[in-house]
Amino acid sequence: MQLQTIVPGPLTGVVTPPADKSISHRALLFSALAGGESQIVNLLQAQDVETTQAVLRQLGVNIKQRGAAIIVEGKDGKLQPTPTGLDCGNSGTTMRLLAGILAGQAFTSVLVGDSSLSKRPMERILIPLCAMGAKAFASPTGSPPVLLRGGNLRGIEYALPVASAQLKSALLLAALQAEGETILHEPALSRDHTERMLASLGVSLRREGLTLILQGPQGLRAGRFIIPGDFSSAAPWLVAALVCPGSHLLIKNVGLNPTRTGLLHILQRMGAGLIVRERGSSESGEPWGDIEVRSQDLRGTEVVAAEIPLAIDEIPLLVVAACFAQGVTRINGAQELRAKESDRITNIVRPLLRMGAKIQVDGDDILIEGQGWLQGATVEAAGDHRIAMALAVAGSAALSPVQLMGAEWVQISYPTFWAELARLQEGARCDS
Ligand code: S3P
Repeated sequence: MQLQTIVPGPLTGVVTPPADKSISHRALLFSALAGGESQIVNLLQAQDVETTQAVLRQLGVNIKQRGAAIIVEGKDGKLQPTPTGLDCGNSGTTMRLLAGILAGQAFTSVLVGDSSLSKRPMERILIPLCAMGAKAFASPTGSPPVLLRGGNLRGIEYALPVASAQLKSALLLAALQAEGETILHEPALSRDHTERMLASLGVSLRREGLTLILQGPQGLRAGRFIIPGDFSSAAPWLVAALVCPGSHLLIKNVGLNPTRTGLLHILQRMGAGLIVRERGSSESGEPWGDIEVRSQDLRGTEVVAAEIPLAIDEIPLLVVAACFAQGVTRINGAQELRAKESDRITNIVRPLLRMGAKIQVDGDDILIEGQGWLQGATVEAAGDHRIAMALAVAGSAALSPVQLMGAEWVQISYPTFWAELARLQEGARCDS
């Protein structure tokens, strides 16, 4: 286990976050199903996306590098069976989207994951996939390993029990391979990268409010993708710059899809004067741009349940920001955080309490009484990349150094995170 000392101090300079993880997974998976050769530029180079590439290769997909691009030779809807388990590692997106694809393939597959993924709920995916005609079995707790026999799918009408883009995407991928109409009702809007990318690959998909309608079967055409930076990887810099006095950052080439940027609106309500410059839109219809941020005084806010899916991976960072805000912040209905790579409510609150924070957890609501300070402590990433980065932000604004155990978990989504933190802190030392 890697121990990282986080020395408090401001951050200044320019930072470009790594490519979007959600869009990278989708570009690979959708290209694999498409007819013809797709090109992906700026694919995320991090563990979760390597996992997706590895399982696709196992299913007979040829993926290679050509110049600056990754080339995926699409299988035109027909993957190859594999006798060995498909190891989805730590990646819920890989396992759930792949399950949607494999539900339409007339062979049996076994999906396995690491110890974190093996505790995550899969029934939410398997119940509707079985209603569409797939055969699926998970462990008695409803988690991986998953045995899936696909083929002969038919469309269904289904009300999703949770606002989950992974669930929605799995069902849309199955619907593409099903006979007839699939109608999905979301309880609240979740990230819509799948809808945008499918539309850019020639799929006809209708949205009416929170309802999606897709007539199957439909094929995908090959595409060219330029992946924007990941808002979720920009978010640690955003919050760090706000809460570390003397900071000033320009965060460049960040994805600004409104179904991802809930944190921006919450921080603006807390008093953050961020400058957001939208600069373009990618081939798959993803807006991107730059964000400029300086340290500022924040005030507490109330976050309602419908805002959670739009800021789902940033809630641990929001809890950190709230510790430095004046007054109380209340985050309502955060239960989905317990179903992530770890129980993110417990695993962000526990270390922050050690650092002197005043936080209460009331069921799935989190109440933070901002005090304007945190102190150093020895804390743990709990096997979760987002917790590691949120604690790094807490440490960079604390009164004394933080010792973080499990720093290596940033490899999942942001392998250069620690080098970037050191560079931006060095930038501030050179400026002063
Ligand atoms: C993701 C969706 C989110 C998010 C995860 C990536 C995706 O999960 O937490 O990190 O790529 O679709 P849910 O939509 O299931 O909440």
